[in-house]
Amino acid sequence: MLGKVVSIIALSAALLDGSMKAALPDKNIDGNVFLVNRQHALSKVYSPAVRKVIGPGMSQSMRDDAAAALEEMFAAAKADGITLSIVSGYRSYSKQSTIYSRKKASQGQEAADRVSARPGTSEHQLGMAMDVARKGSSQLNTKFGTTAEGKWVSANAHRFGFIIRYLEDYEDVTGYMYEPWHVRYVGKEHAQRLYECGLPMEMYMSGFKLEVYDYLIHQVTNE
Ligand code: DAL
Ligand code: ZN
Repeated sequence: MLGKVVSIIALSAALLDGSMKAALPDKNIDGNVFLVNRQHALSKVYSPAVRKVIGPGMSQSMRDDAAAALEEMFAAAKADGITLSIVSGYRSYSKQSTIYSRKKASQGQEAADRVSARPGTSEHQLGMAMDVARKGSSQLNTKFGTTAEGKWVSANAHRFGFIIRYLEDYEDVTGYMYEPWHVRYVGKEHAQRLYECGLPMEMYMSGFKLEVYDYLIHQVTNE
């Protein structure tokens, strides 16, 4: 709780003294800080251009800018003796639908909603999120955050333009339990700022005076 208060004060102070540009983050779906969450869904037909990410693990895709950044991050981790592995990247609306339904069937809706996004509300559909794991593993659980690999990701992802999107202690804001394995590409500039303020994307963006993210996704996607 104290951490939250300190982060909010730091963000507010940075905005007030002008050290953080109070420019609006891009609202362009092809931009880097396009917000997708439970309140801001993607169209069923939205599907970005993606390519395969080169690296160990599963064969998965991302948007080209995110894929290049992830490859750079994996190489830097490797140079530090840390081998990361690809688990899950771009997921279509229908793929997300399958995953969510399976989770709901096995755990019930309430539990499913804490860990899996309903179709249309997953960042994986943006092509800018990747679930990463330790070498030779596809296990995604909070223990990852305590491993050398998870600690490396937490301390370094921002250098490559990624953020840990579902932070510990912010389930009330993000709507999801802590996911130390889920990295979201936002570009280096915003990733650095998000890392420094320690806040989830929702709060960071309201710091840009976007109290209301006042547009409809279907207008952006011309649906
Ligand atoms: N696990 C994250 C919230 C997703 O399903 O996109
Ligand atoms: Zn994920």
